[in-house]
Amino acid sequence: MSDLTGMAKQRILSGVQPTGSLHVGNYFGAIRNWVQGQYEYDNLFCVVDLHAITVPHNPATLAQDTYTIAALYLACGIDLSCSTIFVQSHVSAHSELTWLLNCLIPMNWLTDMIQFKEKAVKQGENVGVGLLDYPVLMSSDILLYDADKVPVGEDQKQHLELTRDIVDRVNHQFGTPKELVLKRPEPLIRAEGARVMSLTDGSKKMSKSDPSDLSRINVLDSPEMIQQKVKKCKTDPIKGLEFGNPERPECTNLLTLYMLFSGKSKDDVIEECQDMGWGQFKPLLTEAAIAHLQPIQQRYKEIVDDRAYLDSVLREGGQKANEIANRTLNRVRKALGFLLPL
Ligand code: TRP
Repeated sequence: MSDLTGMAKQRILSGVQPTGSLHVGNYFGAIRNWVQGQYEYDNLFCVVDLHAITVPHNPATLAQDTYTIAALYLACGIDLSCSTIFVQSHVSAHSELTWLLNCLIPMNWLTDMIQFKEKAVKQGENVGVGLLDYPVLMSSDILLYDADKVPVGEDQKQHLELTRDIVDRVNHQFGTPKELVLKRPEPLIRAEGARVMSLTDGSKKMSKSDPSDLSRINVLDSPEMIQQKVKKCKTDPIKGLEFGNPERPECTNLLTLYMLFSGKSKDDVIEECQDMGWGQFKPLLTEAAIAHLQPIQQRYKEIVDDRAYLDSVLREGGQKANEIANRTLNRVRKALGFLLPL
């Protein structure tokens, strides 16, 4: 894709898994940044349903959860004039490139991954091969589209490092300096990258896998639920509110959330809230959260109710993604010496 100067825009690829509900940590940490940066780039956003089955999943909800994430992308402001939305499993090249890459990298690159080790401990005895292979699938997502940049949070950095190691290895073994097989992606780390923490423990990240729903505000929570959750969230007995006191992680987190929801600057939030107690602050945070999420929820409802529209977005997105991905897959097949499909 080109802009007015005729220069090709750099390409971005990212994805969210259709598991559980999207919370405001995912929203402020990922999707909102994609939306804000999207006009500078040529973007591909996928719903990574193949990743969602790397841990035990519910077949009764997978398709609906996939629609939900796609509709949320649109409701949060992903603009189809510069972005493509598609479902990972609709592009079979993701699975195929994963196989090819599996055969080219050593096992210990995967067994050493931090997230694998953490998730494997949680799974106990029943660790699937897919969980081990998760980072290779993620690498395929990125490499099939020759992505220049990948917006990643702290927890995904190691996966992007692995992707870059795979690129170097494949190019070294099967490419020439003039004809590289794979493009090396860069991480895109945004300066403000606010980390949203749990409502019940300000030192832990807000997470889909926390058993308590009170620990997170979901993008689709009703105003009543948001009010309940803010009312019950953890605070401290200290008077006055402040950012950055290591003894008061909840205070920093709740002020950060207020800043993000209200769109006010940090200085303005400090000015406004420094002399407040929790009783005064909580209604303010509640109101800001509801006001920010309400228009997203409204758009979400309209989109999700128009199944024909959503299907057409995913069909067209899938077609475009397939075209790009199959071109790359053929390039890799050729480099590896395969007889190409006749
Ligand atoms: N692993 C990512 C996460 O859990 C999701 C993901 C899958 C992804 N494929 C990707 C992110 C490709 C960026 C690029 O957040």
